[in-house]
Amino acid sequence: MSDGSGNGQLEGKVAVITGAASGMGLATAERFVAEGAKVVIADFNADAGRAAAEALGPAARFTRCDVSVEDDVAAAVALATDAFGRLDIMFNNAGIGGAFGPITEIEVDHWDTTFAVLVRGVFLGTKHAARVLIDQGEGGSIINTASVAGLGGGAGPQAYSAAKAAVVNLTTTTALELAPHSIRVNAICPGVIFTPLMHGGDVDDAEAMVSELQPLPKRGEGADIAGAALWLAGDDSAFVSGQSIAVDGALLAAGPRIFGRLKNTRNVHRMVGMAHGTTGQAPVARRL
Ligand SMILES: NC(=O)c1ccc[n+]([C@@H]2O[C@H](COP(=O)([O-])OP(=O)(O)OC[C@H]3O[C@@H](n4cnc5c(N)ncnc54)[C@H](O)[C@@H]3O)[C@@H](O)[C@H]2O)c1
Repeated sequence: MSDGSGNGQLEGKVAVITGAASGMGLATAERFVAEGAKVVIADFNADAGRAAAEALGPAARFTRCDVSVEDDVAAAVALATDAFGRLDIMFNNAGIGGAFGPITEIEVDHWDTTFAVLVRGVFLGTKHAARVLIDQGEGGSIINTASVAGLGGGAGPQAYSAAKAAVVNLTTTTALELAPHSIRVNAICPGVIFTPLMHGGDVDDAEAMVSELQPLPKRGEGADIAGAALWLAGDDSAFVSGQSIAVDGALLAAGPRIFGRLKNTRNVHRMVGMAHGTTGQAPVARRL
């Protein structure tokens, strides 16, 4: 039974969430349980993971898991079926910032570890969850956490961004492969979400950046990702697969931010009219 704070949208469903000891994974575990799901918290950080599972009560279990290690991921999926009898939702969400620094200096080990956590982790979660979901024969939902950093430059270091781009592509290819089994695979591409990974303790600095760059005047929170994950996990998204959905306060929609900066477009919000380009016709304009 759900704890009554949700609408029972995931009543009877069982989820594994990696990286659920903190940030958006934790917010999603809380939301899923409130909506009636049973949840396995699979995280590298045993103290935080155990505390999260205890706080959620009997609907949650914790397993210490490094998503880059196949046996750990297989054990997390097995815990879901052993403890709760089935699996419906796999949320491959665990992540780290990974390698940083100039491309001329990055250590191969650091590069490889970044990809091991961010890409191999999603591969292993998909592999082991899909085996169970295929055997059950009732479909399922696999959700991957990518990033707006995986959709272009300028949002993260090279290794992280390249790894998240790989997650976006793995989402599309596995969505195709698993579609005949009614298993949907989608990715969430968070923008700036106020978690310990993003702000590293300096919340003021992060807020200043957001107020300058993000169009929606709201802080992105773990709960915003949990809401998107809930939709992707549940039946309301039954016809959605292979998508990478930005949940980013319109950060990507703002695009290259050229319009409004050239002299002839600077007054764009104070004027209304029609530009005829180089046709020789005069522009029509009226000041607002
Ligand atoms: N916060 C943001 O602004 C942002 C933006 C885009 C994408 N993301 C992605 O969102 C996901 C969640 O990040 P968050 O912001 O909630 O960070 P977070 O640090 O609050 O939580 C991440 C969790 O993942 C766990 N983890 C790390 N490596 C692991 C491993 N090898 N095996 C198992 N667990 C591991 C950590 O222990 C932690 O509990 C990550 O994939 C991250 O790359 C975050």
